[in-house]
Amino acid sequence: MLDLIKSGETSYNSWLQYSKITDSPLVDNYSPFLEHVVIPENTEVINSAKEELLCGISSMFGKSLNISTELKKESFIFLGTEDKYEMVKELIGVDLLGQLNNEGYIIKSFESNNSIIIFGKNDKGVLYGVFHLLRLIQTDSSLNNIDIFENPKNQLRMINEWDNMDGSVERGYAGNSIFFEENRFVRDWDRIKDYARMLSSVGINAIAFNNVNVHEVESKLITTEFLPDVAKVASIFRAYGIKTFLSINYASPIQIGGLDTADPLDEKVRNWWKEKTKEIYQYIPDFGGVLVKADSEHRPGPFTYNRTHADGSNMLAEAIEPFGGIVLWRCFVYNCMQDWRDRSTDRAKAAYDHFKPLDGQFKDNVVLQIKNGPMDFQVREGVSPLFGAMPKTNQLLEFQIAQEYTGQQRHVCYLIPQWKEILDFDTYANGEGTPVKSVVDGSQFQYTHCGITAVSNIGNDVNWTGHTLAQANLYGYGRLTWNPDLSSEIITDEWVKATFGTDLDVVSEISDMLLQSWRIYENYTSPLGVGWMVNPEHHYGPNVDGYEYSVWGTYHFADCKGIGVDRTISTGTGYTGQYFPENQTMYESLDTCPDELLLFFHHVPYTHVLKSGKTVIQHIYDTHFEGVEQAEGLKQRWLALEGKIDPTRFRGILERLEHQAEHSKEWRDIINTYFYRKSGIPDEKNRKIY
Ligand code: GCU
Repeated sequence: MLDLIKSGETSYNSWLQYSKITDSPLVDNYSPFLEHVVIPENTEVINSAKEELLCGISSMFGKSLNISTELKKESFIFLGTEDKYEMVKELIGVDLLGQLNNEGYIIKSFESNNSIIIFGKNDKGVLYGVFHLLRLIQTDSSLNNIDIFENPKNQLRMINEWDNMDGSVERGYAGNSIFFEENRFVRDWDRIKDYARMLSSVGINAIAFNNVNVHEVESKLITTEFLPDVAKVASIFRAYGIKTFLSINYASPIQIGGLDTADPLDEKVRNWWKEKTKEIYQYIPDFGGVLVKADSEHRPGPFTYNRTHADGSNMLAEAIEPFGGIVLWRCFVYNCMQDWRDRSTDRAKAAYDHFKPLDGQFKDNVVLQIKNGPMDFQVREGVSPLFGAMPKTNQLLEFQIAQEYTGQQRHVCYLIPQWKEILDFDTYANGEGTPVKSVVDGSQFQYTHCGITAVSNIGNDVNWTGHTLAQANLYGYGRLTWNPDLSSEIITDEWVKATFGTDLDVVSEISDMLLQSWRIYENYTSPLGVGWMVNPEHHYGPNVDGYEYSVWGTYHFADCKGIGVDRTISTGTGYTGQYFPENQTMYESLDTCPDELLLFFHHVPYTHVLKSGKTVIQHIYDTHFEGVEQAEGLKQRWLALEGKIDPTRFRGILERLEHQAEHSKEWRDIINTYFYRKSGIPDEKNRKIY
């Protein structure tokens, strides 16, 4: 059992360290519960739960639990589902069965006979319950009087890998793919299993493991050449309650089917997809469905045939419907060759303009996948106005855990606070109190399928995420999808304890460093919501005018007088008009638009005074000086933890923090110099601007 934990490889073991517990005051509390595990059922998922529990307990306590199918009188942990309700009905007492959803669970403990019941409506709930129990122990919580009732808030809790079959990972910052190498599947299935454990420990239940940009070779994933391997990977994930999806090439009928068209209304094309779907399900009977990026950044799509995105997605949905599958259709559709001087178009408006008019035209098994913001995962941007704007169309929120624009896992940038703000953003779709989280969890509108997905940040680096602290983003993402109401502080506390142990100084220092890191990153990078300012193509490092597609002028419209994108209805692109009236009014007016998004919505003179009392230009100088000091501060705080963290992780993280501190200076100098030269306005504090 112990082989689930790689001894000595602390960074690999992520938050599933299960470190030996010797001196915790709670050892005496834990021990009496840890004698037997009662498992009357036998399914693949329950076996995963059993294996995890035995491994965790053995690793933390050096103790092997006895396995039994019969209830004991005392000292046992029961794992079971609805089918075995009778065995524990009296112990559970209150009849909560009817309130549990398919993935929910109950954990109850009884001091009287030192027993713990982990009860799931089905086996997935049992697995989640076991991970929860192990988390309680890892975070030094008492096992007395546990009374936990959990239902996930979101139905789909998904991960999108952007892995290519040549082994590279698009926007990957942690090595190569763990799935593919040299245009075939890897053979290290154990690593995929460990990934499945990590994902399921935080409640993820779906994955698409190839890039949304499906090239020629990945188009073949749905052919007999690769389907056996897809099925193998799907079986690994299945044992952890995770459904497999694939990204597909919209032009597959041409690319691999030998047809001369991919027109969604063409009978040949429709039949081709029906046959293809049938074939996929022969290999993977519980296949989740397909993920599609169409008509975006040079990907093929229905526009080629003058068809709408409803035509395109419905055609696939019809083919997959008999098998219970769904179509995840991305709304990241915009003209990447847009001329930024033309103020009648605005990339931010594109998704809403394309999709809003189609509300009600999509089949019930189509889900629109919408990026959190209208641009592209910037350090800060508005929330996509599509959320709540399509009451008759299933919606899925897309985050990016990979830190494409937020330091590429070389800088620490903990994104949970950002995602919390987005989830809590009030759309006003159903009047006040319609936050994004209530749209995507399906409680506002009658969605059949909905939830949250995100671009993964892992690769085959030993520590999965390049920067070990970036593991916290993956962990927190999963926890948030399970329950968007969890606070950033709680999630952070859990992650730090499970990852680095429960030493109070370590916990409070690392937690605080993480919780501040987004703001710090924002301070020394692009100001006030304007976004970008990164080098074209790879998107790393400062380049104020850098934007690969914008060969025509700059996207931020900075000149000698002012900066920012006027997206108002009155004088700008009209983007603010896509929000519900309350938000529209707030963003439209300079008086009410929040400072942090000022330049996302308005073009203002450098001398414009912010609500903070500072001018825009002074804000730019100040935050950039401050951000560099803060980045240096992060490094110093980490140095002070030497001796309290194992040397491998200590050094690895230190190297990244050193780089961040240095690189933040480059950001400061390039941004400050640019705006000093543009505006001609000196720093009030006379600091040296290079
Ligand atoms: C961004 C990113 C691309 C990616 C795209 C997408 O533009 O830079 O690499 O393909 O988003 O989400 O499809």
